[in-house]
Amino acid sequence: EAAEKGGYEHFMIKEIHEQPKAIKDTMTSRIIPDSDEIKLDDIKLTSDDIKNIDKIFIVACGTAYHAGIVGKYVIEKLARIPVEVDIASEFRYRDPIINERTLMIVVSQSGETADTLAALREAKKSGARVIAVTNVVGSSAAREADDIFYTWAGPEIAVASTKAYTTQLISMYIIGLYLARLNGNMSVEEYRTIRDEMIQLPEKVEKLLEEKEELQKFADRNHMHKDMFYLGRGLDNAVALEGALKLKEISYIHAEAYAAGELKHGPIALIDDGIPVIALATQGELFEKMVSNIKEVVTRGAKVIAFALEGNTDIEKVAEQVVYLPKTISLLTPILSVVPLQLLSYYVAVTRGCDVDKPRNLAKSVTVE
Ligand code: G6P
Repeated sequence: EAAEKGGYEHFMIKEIHEQPKAIKDTMTSRIIPDSDEIKLDDIKLTSDDIKNIDKIFIVACGTAYHAGIVGKYVIEKLARIPVEVDIASEFRYRDPIINERTLMIVVSQSGETADTLAALREAKKSGARVIAVTNVVGSSAAREADDIFYTWAGPEIAVASTKAYTTQLISMYIIGLYLARLNGNMSVEEYRTIRDEMIQLPEKVEKLLEEKEELQKFADRNHMHKDMFYLGRGLDNAVALEGALKLKEISYIHAEAYAAGELKHGPIALIDDGIPVIALATQGELFEKMVSNIKEVVTRGAKVIAFALEGNTDIEKVAEQVVYLPKTISLLTPILSVVPLQLLSYYVAVTRGCDVDKPRNLAKSVTVE
């Protein structure tokens, strides 16, 4: 097993470090430098098919569901098709409206999660077209769907998903771009801007992996706390959900993610002296609003670690600690911001002496309903 960990102490930290490669492998051959074509060999949707689609459902569980929430933002923004994201175990029981004009995207690392497969089957029965985003070649999801998007993350051993999540995010961007180009919602210039930014992501993730000092400091100071809050707006809110899940899964600390604008409607009552708050502030147009939210919790005694893009130094006036992310366009920040959140969870769990790779009560793949 030591050999499989390639010199790392745990599979999780090894897999966190494999992300630049996983992202690159998932993009290469699909998003091509200097080419305006998006190549998706296993997706056969034509522009006529896409014009016929009036609704997309993204259905998944756990971390894959969180990738779906980012997917909703991205696909709606790029392709202007309404998207709903559903937890697979809820989907079937709410009598969803599915027909031949529905496209379902199931997201599943293993491709074997029982609830996700059940949702896929239900959708097919009602005439929907299904794309499976999965990391396992020949998995049930891949076999049963009409179209496939393989995430090339390689085998993920740690129960807490890291590299599968970032490649699922990449799949959401690529599918969003693909739909937008096919249905005529995106000009070639717009495509080129996003493509060129995407191609730089692996290098930017690599750079982020080198910056561990602030995160380790955070873990040293805060690992004994019982509760932590994650706040963000827009795409940052989606990433906050995944950050909180990672912390819960491996450190057993109660972590809650909230849309920062909802603070006043409940969670602010729980903010008191010394409580750690993880605040994401990467969304340009929402930056000032996040700074106000951070002030609100600091006034009530919270200790804030903030994540912002390089250059947004105003954040230092309000947050106790700041981690800067390499600059990119607002749409793509989830790929960058989740990485330090994964590391933060990892260091907190290690400092607490938890079994990082095999957290209690959790399984890598849930094949029963
Ligand atoms: C389990 C795993 C999670 C995973 C979820 C969905 O809960 O512990 O890491 O996100 O299942 O799994 P899937 O294979 O469908 O992505």
